[in-house]
Amino acid sequence: MSELNTQLRELRERFDAAVAAAQDAQALDAARVAFLGRSGEVTLLRRGIGQLPAAERPSAGKEINAAVELMEAALQDAEAALQSREFEAELGMRIDVTFPAPPAALGAIHPLRRVTEDICRYFQRHGFAVVLGPEIEPEYYNFDALNIPADHPAREGFDSFFLTGNLLLRPHTSPMQIRTMQQHRPPVAVVVPGRCYRRDAVDARHHFQFHQIEGLLVDRGVHFGHLKGMLTGMCRELFGRDQQVRFRPSFFPFTEPSAEVDTTCPLCRASGSPCRMCGGSGWIELGGSGMVHPNVLRNMDYDPAEYSGWAFGFGVERMALVRYDIDDIRRFYENDPAFLKQLA
Ligand code: PHE
Repeated sequence: MSELNTQLRELRERFDAAVAAAQDAQALDAARVAFLGRSGEVTLLRRGIGQLPAAERPSAGKEINAAVELMEAALQDAEAALQSREFEAELGMRIDVTFPAPPAALGAIHPLRRVTEDICRYFQRHGFAVVLGPEIEPEYYNFDALNIPADHPAREGFDSFFLTGNLLLRPHTSPMQIRTMQQHRPPVAVVVPGRCYRRDAVDARHHFQFHQIEGLLVDRGVHFGHLKGMLTGMCRELFGRDQQVRFRPSFFPFTEPSAEVDTTCPLCRASGSPCRMCGGSGWIELGGSGMVHPNVLRNMDYDPAEYSGWAFGFGVERMALVRYDIDDIRRFYENDPAFLKQLA
């Protein structure tokens, strides 16, 4: 056996012993450096090749390369074995069942839903039913039955998304006035929360998709005072005990008389100081309202001589902006957990 052979075998024995003794990655690495490193033992052996007779040099080189390959493989195996031993040690750890668990992330009710639910609950307490309607409606429910004829400019005012045929995304919840009166004889008392759509450019106060809540009461002897009383109560429930409401004359084809409804700005309490919510006017606009137009009652075969009613349609986003003092309507749709958590 050549001298190189003996040296290699002796080196392998010491290398195997060092690898077998290594208890951690550091010890393994030390063995790698000592034997296979740049100035390790194998490199020293290689340098000796130069002193061999020229004829023996190629086979000596090959022998050393073969030994190095085996040693590297042995290092890899040892590393893998070490890792799985560590993993098993981890698995074997006792589990402390008394250790406090990380808190579960809880969702929260969205502010738009909260406002909607509070309003519905208020009206339910007063005997109203909560009903939902389709978001895609034919023109008949959106306009014709609501006393808005085809050539009436109010139709354009609703800036609707038209679909195929005479279908459109409802621009208001008022179609449900019609569906409710079609299905029930008076008295009727409903509130209708839901999504609406208009071709509005998106900014801090407008969105192409928004929510309304509609109210409708029809019975014998219903008058404007009932509307005022119910809406004042609603505003006090939503914004606080001292809320006032005011009615500004307005026009809707489906109500007569019609009014825009404002409530006192809960942020500045109409102190007259500059207010970012109401612009200093002291009033916040909630939406439209009025006494149901006799033509609408007639369309539903309700006799206007016998029955009267009122209706309103308010923007839910608007009320939530004011209630939670939010600066931008787009926040409601971004689903930023930090924002929603703040309001939870
Ligand atoms: N539907 C009207 C709108 O969206 C609001 C309204 C509802 C007005 C009911 C009067 C009565 O502008």
